[in-house]
Amino acid sequence: MEVNSVLVTGANRGLGLEFVKQFLSLPNSPKHVFAGCRNPDKAEAFLPLLRSAASRGGCLSVTNAAIINISTGVASITENDSGGGYPYRTSKAALNMITKNLSVDLKKDNILVAAVHPGWLKTDMGGTRATMETDEMARKLIDLMATFQSEDYTGKLYHFSGRVMPF
Ligand SMILES: NC(=O)c1ccc[n+]([C@@H]2O[C@H](COP(=O)([O-])OP(=O)(O)OC[C@H]3O[C@@H](n4cnc5c(N)ncnc54)[C@H](OP(=O)(O)O)[C@@H]3O)[C@@H](O)[C@H]2O)c1
Repeated sequence: MEVNSVLVTGANRGLGLEFVKQFLSLPNSPKHVFAGCRNPDKAEAFLPLLRSAASRGGCLSVTNAAIINISTGVASITENDSGGGYPYRTSKAALNMITKNLSVDLKKDNILVAAVHPGWLKTDMGGTRATMETDEMARKLIDLMATFQSEDYTGKLYHFSGRVMPF
């Protein structure tokens, strides 16, 4: 994947930290990797930079300008067959709506917006019983994101395998 700039939020630990490490170690690593962590004073002035990147032309794609939200499969209303987890499911379902909404609003700016489900990861959140390591998953997700090369990919939630998940 050849990209100029990447912004990773929640980059001080967990999957976010692993994304920063792996983006920096790519053979064609991005020229700029912005690593964000919680600091309200500096929160989210990234849209003008995305617009500037997108204005260089090219099709709607991750190579051009994109926002990829880390969602979760348990936010899928259609695939919910186990109940529970009200706050988490609800907040991530809202993130899915934000993803879809942004994809509509930013299409005119040539910015792709999608969400991904990273599976169950061994992090502070996922715990030690989780099935996957962050380094393995960050690699998979970077490879998956690299395939987002047309407007067909915008406004969707992707399982880490590449399957489009129903909202
Ligand atoms: N782990 C899993 O099994 C799993 C499964 C599905 C989806 N996900 C999703 O994957 C993403 C990363 O999860 P993780 O397992 O790497 O989590 P983690 O190890 O618990 O790390 C969470 C990161 O998010 C930051 N953060 C938390 N609340 C925030 C807030 N309100 N505003 C800004 N930053 C905030 C934390 O910052 P501080 O250090 O400042 O708290 C930290 O950098 C999350 O979106 C999670 O929902 C994880």
